[in-house]
Amino acid sequence: MMIDPFGRRVTYLRVSVTDRCNYRCTYCMAEDMTFLPKVEILTLEELDRVCSAFVRRGVRKLRITGGEPLVRRDIMTLFRSLGRFLDSGEMDELTLTTNGSLLARYARDLAECGVRRVNVSLDSLDSERFAAITRGGRLSEVLSGLEAAKDAGLAVKINTVALKGLNEDEFDTLIAWCGRQGFDLTFIETMPMGEIDDDRTEHYLPLSVLRENLGERWTLIDVEDRTGGPARYVRIEETGRRLGLITPMTHNFCESCNRVRLTCTGMLYMCLGQTDSVDLREPLRASEGDELLMAAIDQAIARKPKGHDFVIEPGTDRPAVDRHMSVTGG
Ligand code: 5AD
Ligand code: SF4
Repeated sequence: MMIDPFGRRVTYLRVSVTDRCNYRCTYCMAEDMTFLPKVEILTLEELDRVCSAFVRRGVRKLRITGGEPLVRRDIMTLFRSLGRFLDSGEMDELTLTTNGSLLARYARDLAECGVRRVNVSLDSLDSERFAAITRGGRLSEVLSGLEAAKDAGLAVKINTVALKGLNEDEFDTLIAWCGRQGFDLTFIETMPMGEIDDDRTEHYLPLSVLRENLGERWTLIDVEDRTGGPARYVRIEETGRRLGLITPMTHNFCESCNRVRLTCTGMLYMCLGQTDSVDLREPLRASEGDELLMAAIDQAIARKPKGHDFVIEPGTDRPAVDRHMSVTGG
């Protein structure tokens, strides 16, 4: 069992398996990103070892993220291996966050590994706009990926980053479209993570504003569902579907935080909005046994902070957190 100093039980591990991505979303990355050299990156075997250690310590849910997790070579080997914890009942859920571009190829394999749900990032249903936001992504490949996910029986949740002046006129369209497709939808506020080329404050759209606006056309019913994360949920009466609102800039979710995040180099971040981290790669590579690794994990959990320090202040050009979202995968 992992219980942090504030009495929170850690049962959820998010694992970024690569910092690379085939897209370059403007709010996420700079156009010209330098990615990590291969020696820094945990091998698939090492990732499996760390995940297994966390499962032994009581983690019930694993989310594979990136960058874009499906661009990592042989990633299905990891999914297949982690699927054993679902079969044994040691884990409740294995899932991933993806940009959807490679789902047409992998949806069926994922379902075979025991994946039941996927989160797919999609910020626009207009192909030109989609290409502009992702700097070259093709909407059609994501749409076929989504079809493949449906065919494979995967439940889909769409994640849309709310961007003032870029996609705010599409929120109604997205809600109606998700309703027809049978997808849940979550809107996300931009977070000040990592240097990008744009000024983030320019496209920052507080979800309180969005919610008020949507309320003029949709009947939003508060629901109590909590997942231990920063999402609040409402049900949209007209579509019958759940709508999530992720407002990481508020503090109201930290007290129920149940998660930690592993980067592809083996750094464990105990909070999305803090810089403190513990290196798990060193103990992992120092011996074949897992004693050092387990000790490092315990030490990290004992350092999990109470909450984050995010602020997006107009005029500040420094992000609150230096690392990009693609390092810890959200
Ligand atoms: N702020 C908010 N959301 C972000 N994402 C990536 N970078 C940021 C950021 N700075 C989103 C992606 C994806 C999810 C994992 O996080 O679009 O949906
Ligand atoms: Fe890639 Fe997701 Fe970042 Fe876009 S937001 S560049 S899809 S990691």
